[in-house]
Formats: sequence, C-alpha cells, structure tokens
Amino acid sequence: MWDSRIPTGVYARLYASWKRVWREVGIIEGIFRKYGVRRIVEFGCGLGRHGYLLSKRGFDVLLTDIEDRRFGVAKKLPFKRYNLLEGGSIGVFEGGYAVGVITLFGYEDIVRILRNIKSVIGSGIFIFDYNFTPYIDPEKVEVRVNGKKYIAILEKNKYTQINGGLIYEYRVRVVDEKGSTVGVEEASYPIYNKEEILRAIKEAGYIVKEIAWASWDPLEYIYKPSDKESDSAFIAITPR
Ligand SMILES: C[S@@+](CC[C@H](N)C(=O)[O-])C[C@H]1O[C@@H](n2cnc3c(N)ncnc32)[C@H](O)[C@@H]1O
Repeated sequence: MWDSRIPTGVYARLYASWKRVWREVGIIEGIFRKYGVRRIVEFGCGLGRHGYLLSKRGFDVLLTDIEDRRFGVAKKLPFKRYNLLEGGSIGVFEGGYAVGVITLFGYEDIVRILRNIKSVIGSGIFIFDYNFTPYIDPEKVEVRVNGKKYIAILEKNKYTQINGGLIYEYRVRVVDEKGSTVGVEEASYPIYNKEEILRAIKEAGYIVKEIAWASWDPLEYIYKPSDKESDSAFIAITPR
C-alpha cells in the first residue's frame, strides 16, 4: 500500500530531486547500453524524471503508471496508464525498468508483477531497485518551493519482523509555514532480504543478468553506487 497526497511540486523537491534521478539513471543506462537495449518502458514512473533523462540520452521511452503524476518536462513524453498488478498490452519493448516501485509490494504481488512485465518486454531486460534493509529516516525535512517553506514531518516509522524480512509502515505529513497540512504520504509494505527477492525472481520465471549494488543515504535521499554487496541493489533480470 502506497498513497501520496503531497502536492507534486513539493513532492518533487522532497523525494525526486534531479540529483537523485540522475544517479539512478546512470546505473540503469549503463546496464541497458551493455545489452544493446534502446526501446524501453518505465513502470510506476511517478513524476517521470527518469524517463525524461533517458529519452534525452537517446532511449525511446514510454512512461507508464497507474495514475498520471507526470511533472514539468516529463509531460512531453508518451504516457500510458498501466496497472502492474493487472498487466495488459502496451506495446513491444526491448527492456523495462521501475524505480521505487517493486519495493511497495508483497511477495505474491512481486511474482505476479514480474510475470505481467514479461508480456511487455518479451525476452528483454527488466531493471528494478530494491532496499533490503531498514533505514533511520530523518524526523523533519525542510524544503523551499517557489519561495515558500514546507516541512515534512515523519509522524510514524515502524518496523515489524516477519519471515524473510520486515514490515515497514510510515506516515509523513507536510505542513506549510503556518503549520497547515498540505499533504500526507502513507505506506506500509514488506522489506525482504536478498534471498526472498531472488526467490521471487526465480518463481516468476526469470534469471538474474546482473546486480549493481548501491547504498541508500536516507538523509540525502539518494543512492550511492557501491562496488561491493550493500543494503540496496539495481537488479537486471531476463525471462528464463
Ligand atoms: C514511490 S513512487 C516512485 C515514483 C518514481 N518511479 C520515482 O522513482 O520517483 C511509486 C510509484 O508507483 C506507482 N504505482 C503504485 N502502484 C502501482 C501499480 N499497481 N501499477 C503501476 N504503478 C503503480 C505509484 O503511482 C507511484 O507513482
């Protein structure tokens, strides 16, 4: 479950900075180039910044999401509504990717989503990021948007142990200078360990092509590429 009612401009500043997106696009681009993939689809694109940068770098990108939240320049890109849990046909692609999306689902849904993605990418490559561990998230983050100050307050941040990982629940409230709520984001989802994710990949009928390790900085809200096994990874898989 993931629900965000934070106004898009504020959300962009808090959670989807160009710096963050640029880093992630670098990792994704490197993998696609290695396998000669050019025609790609993004799942759960959100604001659409990853797809925008990849299109600037010469990829042919279709953005998709269950809801159109595209922001600014990303509105220039083609977009289709696509629910990962339902699947369906949206075209033919050589590859696909999703950032901050697969992590939102439970084991059975991850398997179902990966199976649905197969019918979109054929024998191509799918890349997704995954955080295998919990983090110490900041209690308060302040941002300025169009000269106005907003504060994101972490109201709830809870981890519960389950088989194969943890359940993570959080709620962030964003208030303006007067203390009035402008939006709330709430989510609860499992955080699986590496073995569980590899099991889901196998069960869905894929093999792992490669894993690019990264470490997540919760304060900077950004991944840092890592040359050894770490708390997070970009996993590239292909149907078996
Ligand atoms: C945490 S946001 C990540 C957005 C963007 N990829 C990024 O990295 O900034 C999760 C996104 O997944 C989308 N999403 C959630 N459930 C979905 C579903 N069943 N099918 C497709 N997209 C979904 C949401 O609408 C949201 O845009």
